[in-house]
Amino acid sequence: MEHRKLAFIGAGNMSRSLIAGLIKSGYPADLILAANPSRPKLDALAADFGIRTTQDNLEAAGWAQALVLAVKPQMMAAMLAELVQAGTDFKGKLLISIAAGVSVARLEQMAGGHDNLIRTMPNTPSLLGLGMTGLYAKSHVSQVDRDYCGQMMAAVGKILWVAEEDGINQVIAAAGSAPAYFFLFMEAMAAEAEKQGFSAEEARLLVQQSALGAAQMVAANPGLTLAELRAQVTSKGGTTAEAIRRFQEGGLEQLVAEAMAAAVARARELETQL
Ligand SMILES: NC(=O)c1ccc[n+]([C@@H]2O[C@H](COP(=O)([O-])OP(=O)(O)OC[C@H]3O[C@@H](n4cnc5c(N)ncnc54)[C@H](OP(=O)(O)O)[C@@H]3O)[C@@H](O)[C@H]2O)c1
Repeated sequence: MEHRKLAFIGAGNMSRSLIAGLIKSGYPADLILAANPSRPKLDALAADFGIRTTQDNLEAAGWAQALVLAVKPQMMAAMLAELVQAGTDFKGKLLISIAAGVSVARLEQMAGGHDNLIRTMPNTPSLLGLGMTGLYAKSHVSQVDRDYCGQMMAAVGKILWVAEEDGINQVIAAAGSAPAYFFLFMEAMAAEAEKQGFSAEEARLLVQQSALGAAQMVAANPGLTLAELRAQVTSKGGTTAEAIRRFQEGGLEQLVAEAMAAAVARARELETQL
């Protein structure tokens, strides 16, 4: 991947994961700078990855060719206002937001009209290098910048570009919020397994390993549809068929559709609030 001077404004969990992924993929440590108000996270990043650090966002913004805006969404306006008011020249720089719920239009406004900007939406498993990130940029953003940002996010998982910004809200419904759907399903399964006599630890192991194995089977068989994979493990008249029949009679598919539509609606609503 192309190596630019890359600064992270905000050195929290997501920045740490991205930095770890980048270093692992061979990105030069001296081209990465993390900025954060307090020292401890910076010191840990410097010790673990040998990157540059600063407590001064202005220094980071001045130095970098690409900036990852990695503060909490509610901090974004104040953080960018400080840079703009201090006269930071964003010309020629690429801004990459990882903040949930802050639209490109709002980011441009916050960045004093600078519009070389990519909005990304990673999810929590990025912290383990197993993330799923949606990316969106307006059409004027160059392919070189898109490739750079895409490769950066690919250091912590898989990526998917969306053509319209609202696609980010659909990414939230299908990936950003999705780990919690699976946790809920696993929670329900583990609770029943416990009722049927397993210890909490045993129930968790059974459910966890089955979920992991199922996801790996999906990944390992790109030629099979999800329905085909399911059919392969569902013998007619067997135990799986019986359980699936109950799920379907209970309206599982419809419920999932409604839940995801609700997530999209909420994401759209939140976007209007920041
Ligand atoms: N974690 C995820 O799974 C995930 C998923 C999708 C999107 N995101 C997005 O990623 C962004 C960061 O999330 P996170 O989980 O990494 O949060 P986090 O761990 O709380 O990190 C945010 C960091 O920003 C620092 N900060 C606060 N004000 C700042 C300022 N003015 N200038 C520079 N740094 C400042 C904080 O420092 P102090 O702690 O020292 O105050 C903290 O280290 C958020 O916008 C979130 O929406 C996260």
